[in-house]
Amino acid sequence: MKKFYKLLEEKVKNSLDVCGYKCDEVVVNESNRPDLGDYQFNGIMPLAKVYHKNPILIAGEVVDVLKKDPFFKDVSMAGPGFINLSISDDALINFANIDDYAYPKNDHLIFLDYGGANVAKSLHVGHLRSANIGEALKRLCNYLGYKTISDTHLGDFGRPLGLVILELSKRFPEWSYFKDDYKGEGENVVITNELLEEVYPYASAKAKESEEYLKEAQIMTKRLQNKEKGIYDLWLKIMEVSKKSIKEIYDRLNTSFDLYKGESDAENCVPELLSYLDKLNIVYESEGAKVIDVKEEDDKLEIPPMLLIKTDGGILYSTTELATIYERVKEYHPDEIWYVVDKRQSLHFTQVFRASKKSGLTKDTNLVFAGFGTMNGSDGKPFKTRDGGVMRLLDLLEEVKKESLKRLNPNILDNRDSIAEDIAMSAIKYADMLPNIATDYNFDVEKFCDLEGKTGPYILYSTIRMKSLLNKAKENNITYDKIYKIANNYDRELLIILNNLDIVLNRCFENKSLNDITEYLYRLTTSYNRFYTENYILNEEDKLKQASWLYLTSIVYQVNNILLDILAIKVPDKM
Ligand code: ARG
Repeated sequence: MKKFYKLLEEKVKNSLDVCGYKCDEVVVNESNRPDLGDYQFNGIMPLAKVYHKNPILIAGEVVDVLKKDPFFKDVSMAGPGFINLSISDDALINFANIDDYAYPKNDHLIFLDYGGANVAKSLHVGHLRSANIGEALKRLCNYLGYKTISDTHLGDFGRPLGLVILELSKRFPEWSYFKDDYKGEGENVVITNELLEEVYPYASAKAKESEEYLKEAQIMTKRLQNKEKGIYDLWLKIMEVSKKSIKEIYDRLNTSFDLYKGESDAENCVPELLSYLDKLNIVYESEGAKVIDVKEEDDKLEIPPMLLIKTDGGILYSTTELATIYERVKEYHPDEIWYVVDKRQSLHFTQVFRASKKSGLTKDTNLVFAGFGTMNGSDGKPFKTRDGGVMRLLDLLEEVKKESLKRLNPNILDNRDSIAEDIAMSAIKYADMLPNIATDYNFDVEKFCDLEGKTGPYILYSTIRMKSLLNKAKENNITYDKIYKIANNYDRELLIILNNLDIVLNRCFENKSLNDITEYLYRLTTSYNRFYTENYILNEEDKLKQASWLYLTSIVYQVNNILLDILAIKVPDKM
């Protein structure tokens, strides 16, 4: 990948060297006063302190050196020692013409845990955010050259499954799974996902009302965890049905995983984990349960011990979480594990991360919690349906798709459904990744689907228009192979914005948040659209100018596609 800032910062560093000033980290920023220069260097003041010299004098010396470099059109000093830098047209053009957008591959392995759907339960908007953000972070890591492994970490073994199986045993006592003499043969039971999704909320509500039902559910959960043959086989069947429908939703979200493991896989590692922990003397008994102390001296809030084994001998979310870390480290030796999970689970992860550090499980593995905020309803409260229930993810997708279909160009007659699907996904994903990961935001279907403003459909529409311009040029046998000249401020501004790509990608990687990419897409696209309206590209008589503009269009088109692909947003042929 070509790195404009690196080039620029090296030039500034060299000029400081020439003048006899050592500066280890030179940082140049895009100017917030483009009328004064394209970039600015604000590092003279701290140097002046080190060298006990008037900053204006230092800046003056440095400016004199930089001015001799034809890379710059203009270098000037401002205020008490800021340096403004304007890039020469030739330098901008030469850099833009370098066709190098790939990063070298490296061996650093990042394990990503996202998705987190629960078996036999409908996915909800929280799962949407985890899938969108996690998938995009994975693609970003890959684009930057990192190795990744992704895993959904399905919720597939806890109390919800106990509840579902209990309720099924009450409704269908005749199923052979529930018979004492179950042999595991000839089972012809039909289980649908609809049934499962209806059973879970029913059973969950009932367990809240009835103490007895809750107890029965706990016993059922225990029977499942003990892998009692009939119960376990029924569970396998539920897993098959539920996983299929979960995968269908992830397909729609253009999200995929290397591993479809879950809490149940981690459960297999629990005995090994427990015997490992036993040797360390960090597990102790508290009120009949087994716990690990995880508080640290400078905690401002009290961090309670991590529960490892319940009083009844059962295991919990934190147990399988720790066992999963144990397994992942043993099996894959990742350098990092990133968790893309609702930020309201941060206490759980603080406890688990500390327990794993304390037990030496992750000596060589960095654990990262990328916690996301909630998507709220228009009232600013966590998303609910009209009747107060949790909004199913599928219903939400359908609502956005309906809105997208309404806005779809009526002249398009073919593939309307699949185009509307692409537009809807762009609307949801773009809106989901527009704020910083940790920020809550409100669901607003009309705003998300708008063809104007910071929306997925706006970016898609503009990107498609770039492609159709390039196609028209081809039909008219107009060729373009590079940028020859800068004609005005519209194309110049685009070149400056394009120089930011590497910085934007790396900032997202550092912050584990995609908002810099979504904002950048908007900035690049709006700037392109201004350029497009102001310049009559296909009618331009100056052939070098025309070729330059088309080539610039092809670059912006390429960058938009790279970024949309990182966000896992598909671009339809037309819309
Ligand atoms: N299944 C969980 C839920 O729906 C999310 C799992 C997140 N990943 C993890 N390793 N805990 O809340």
